[in-house]
Amino acid sequence: MTQHSAAPADRAAAPSAADRTGWWRDAVIYQVYPRSFADSNGDGMGDIEGVRSRLPYLRDLGIDAVWLSPFYASPQADAGYDVADYRAIDPMFGTLLDADALIRDAHDLGLRIIVDVVPNHTSDQYEWFRRAIGDGPSSPLRDRYHFRAGKGENGELPPNDWESIFGGPAWTRVADGSWYLHLFAPEQPDLNWEHPAVADEFRSILRFWLDMGVDGFRVDVAHGLVKAPGLPDLGGSDQLRLLGNDVMPFFDQDGVHEIYRSWRTILDEYPGERIAVAEAWTPTVERTAHYVRPDELHQAFNFQYLGTHWDAAELREVIDGSLAAMRPVGAPATWVLSNHDVTRHTTRFANPPAGTQIRTPGDPELGLRRARAATLLMLALPGSAYLYQGEELGLPDVTDLPDEVRQDPSFFRAAGQDGFRDGCRVPLPWTAEGSSYGFGSGGSWLPQPAGWGALSVEAQTGDSGSTLELYRRALSLRRELPGLGAGESVEWLPGTPDGVLAFARPGFRCTVNTTGRPVRLPVPGRMVLASTEVTGATGAAEVTGATGATGVLPENSEFELPADSTVWWSV
Ligand code: GLC
Repeated sequence: MTQHSAAPADRAAAPSAADRTGWWRDAVIYQVYPRSFADSNGDGMGDIEGVRSRLPYLRDLGIDAVWLSPFYASPQADAGYDVADYRAIDPMFGTLLDADALIRDAHDLGLRIIVDVVPNHTSDQYEWFRRAIGDGPSSPLRDRYHFRAGKGENGELPPNDWESIFGGPAWTRVADGSWYLHLFAPEQPDLNWEHPAVADEFRSILRFWLDMGVDGFRVDVAHGLVKAPGLPDLGGSDQLRLLGNDVMPFFDQDGVHEIYRSWRTILDEYPGERIAVAEAWTPTVERTAHYVRPDELHQAFNFQYLGTHWDAAELREVIDGSLAAMRPVGAPATWVLSNHDVTRHTTRFANPPAGTQIRTPGDPELGLRRARAATLLMLALPGSAYLYQGEELGLPDVTDLPDEVRQDPSFFRAAGQDGFRDGCRVPLPWTAEGSSYGFGSGGSWLPQPAGWGALSVEAQTGDSGSTLELYRRALSLRRELPGLGAGESVEWLPGTPDGVLAFARPGFRCTVNTTGRPVRLPVPGRMVLASTEVTGATGAAEVTGATGATGVLPENSEFELPADSTVWWSV
């Protein structure tokens, strides 16, 4: 008799071989942050037409899909993650016709489009919330949010002790005395997912965009939709410290999975393998795996990997742990180094290890060197990789933005966990000179640092040592080398010194040095790409030093793996 395991990871039928063929399993997905990508109309704000005009750039970069952060109608209290109309484009970004043209053009170029869906909260300007307030305390629309009476003699205290992720209490009091819950800014009231109208509305929103032809969704705050019954106090202060370390009464509750099972049936009704990726901050990678069981979402961001320091032992542990956690559910591992919520990894790696919000430039040269090495490591791993716009240019975080230009709502709620996310959102430099370095003709909504022209797409194109050309070459090799993104495991090669990683994939080897000094290793194959110049092979007759070029190092000899570098080899 077959044993039926009760372990949640095994709940749905094991994936068949056919399930494992999807385009998304090894896809490289590029995050576009629309307001900072390219501005077509000179208002200083990026827009959909700007993205559309740069699609050939993205195709040539060698990515598979584009994920667009929200472009919906929004008062922009949290850069569009406060949605006032899920079926309309904000005029600052364009129109539905522009979105339609973008999706069509992308498909013509062989690129897929993933859009953000924001189901944990709406804008306070969403019609439901406006009516919930406007119609007074008896409005039935209040049931679609979390309205409660306050505590204290006159209800003057918040209903419980939860704190907003952006700092301060997670509750705001309205004029008639009741309080509503917002895990993020007060302009982002949390929806009550126990109410059937909420679930219906989001099923309809998904269909709206699937009918428009999008290839998938990135699910914002996917771990937050269901709150523990009774909204119990958390107890204690310093709640932010607990985030990501524990199951919280407002995060990663088991009830969220019911929602994603219902979403999966909708995605599966559409042809062409439409997918969803969860932004789920969970205490462990094992709990992240719950979101990608075969009847739920397709992928989940690997924030454990994003938080890993430039350290061989730590990296190996997280890589192994991630692959092991995904294997039982048949989902691909994902890898990500940067996004619009964290300090860019060039700047994280330029500083001593200290979380994902860094406020000092550190040693930018070292940061870039490690970032390039980290990218080659990430792109050699099996699974799907996420890139954040501008990382292909090696952009650092802008750590010295003056306070008066900052827009991140968490900056204004002093105790927030983030607070400094504007630094990774500075508009991209496209040209070496000119207004906002080619971002647009009318300046840019956040000032770009002087000297960004040298980091522009124009300046880096054709320069074989540039970070842009390194990304282009790596992404093209990832397509050429059979199965580099496929599979579920890596084979670690024995005998590597501390601080060094060496692993085998079919027909391929990768060597990574996370230390600050060169190490000698046996030549494992034919060098195909290096994050920095490689020299010093013992007895090498011919060494091509330039990164991005093929080097010939005689087998059975040794070579010197430079400090903070990664080298790809074919065998
Ligand atoms: C997600 C987004 C972040 C936003 C928050 C609230 O974490 O990535 O940018 O502020 O959700 O929607």
